[in-house]
Amino acid sequence: MARWDVIILGAGAAGLMCAAQAGYRGRRVLVLDNAKKPGRKILISGGGRCNFTNLQAGPHAYVCRNPHFTKSALARYTQRDFIDLVERHGVAYEERDHGQLFCTESAKEIVRVLLTECDWAGVTLQMQTEILSVEALESGFALTTSRGVLACESLVIATGGLSLPKLGATPLGYRLAEQFGLPVVATHAGLVPFTLHTADKEALAELSGISLPVTMTAACGQSFTEALLFTHRGLSGPAVLQVSSYWTPGEAVVIDLLPGRDVADWLVRAQRENGAQELKTLLARELPRRLVEKLMEQGVLLNKPLRQYTPRELAEAAERLTHWTLKPNGTEGYRTAEVTLGGVDTDALSSKTMAAREVPGLYFIGEVMDVTGWLGGFNFQWCWSSGWVAGQYA
Ligand code: FDA
Repeated sequence: MARWDVIILGAGAAGLMCAAQAGYRGRRVLVLDNAKKPGRKILISGGGRCNFTNLQAGPHAYVCRNPHFTKSALARYTQRDFIDLVERHGVAYEERDHGQLFCTESAKEIVRVLLTECDWAGVTLQMQTEILSVEALESGFALTTSRGVLACESLVIATGGLSLPKLGATPLGYRLAEQFGLPVVATHAGLVPFTLHTADKEALAELSGISLPVTMTAACGQSFTEALLFTHRGLSGPAVLQVSSYWTPGEAVVIDLLPGRDVADWLVRAQRENGAQELKTLLARELPRRLVEKLMEQGVLLNKPLRQYTPRELAEAAERLTHWTLKPNGTEGYRTAEVTLGGVDTDALSSKTMAAREVPGLYFIGEVMDVTGWLGGFNFQWCWSSGWVAGQYA
């Protein structure tokens, strides 16, 4: 039986970062993965340019049952540390809105950085390997794989979440957690478009392709000011993806179509200045005309010359423009979700090392854990931070 100091399951962002760190400590590290090539999700991320971190990364940008869990790892391996790493490897990058950093050329650059680091650290990568079973030994673990039986002192699970089954996502990480007695927080799709009930879907389908800045708010009060995109299936765009991570089935979302503006005051002044103007004409100056017409057609707003509105009706129109309420039917699910919410319960893990509290030598890192970042490079930063800290101890 071949023996290793550390075996890491999963050659994605978290697994490769952890492997290089453990390798630099002089540990003999083997990374196993059932895919043909490492880092497949990195390659398709950020539209092929990988939004690899965010300048504003911090615990506020993560959904986790324990809001304090991410603090230690994010402070010990920060976005600045990862930026230094890519700069050392000569990767050109650019900053976009909200502090998002993307490769200028290609996401392949990030995979190159990680594989180079693994190479320098003496890590062995073995792809196209199925994990058939894992069992605890008196000290360490034994793994039966499609390519033989292996043993290791430390076992790191970095098998990711359930999103994008066509890329080979599997529930192996959750199964292993349960096998070793660690609780798993129920999983569901996150950063995912909403689908609509038939009536809304049919009514709004004509708006497909329209995008506008909005503030969207989930029932829990969490809101995001970003673009909303109408699609032929429902609602998408960054505002929707962000809110989807805070949405529970059955709840409504509230949309402010004119964010950052005192709409009530604007309408009163417009009435005073040009009472003959219809509401439709006024709104079409600030919102896509087709959307305005749809809101009128659906009875969300009434159209008439502004002078015919009573103060109460005008206030009501302002309220409807800033609190347009829609009830999604569901989400598009793991087929298009960027991430999986839920996962290995962080209460069972050390926030300093990512080690299972009750199972010596067992670690969980990256998306398999109950830690989900906002859209904008936060998920990769969690992979780098959790992978880096686990690499110091595994
Ligand atoms: P990841 O899923 O990357 O890796 C897990 C590895 O384990 C894979 O190589 C897989 O083959 C392997 N594996 C799984 N099951 C196995 C089994 N049974 N046996 C052996 N191996 C197994 N985030 C961000 O911050 N910026 C961005 O730009 C984007 N963009 C983006 C686009 C799209 C389309 C998606 C779907 C996702 C993103 N994300 C993102 C999210 C980001 O990609 C994600 O959070 C990380 O890739 C998670 O990294 P992990 O290393 O945890 O798992």
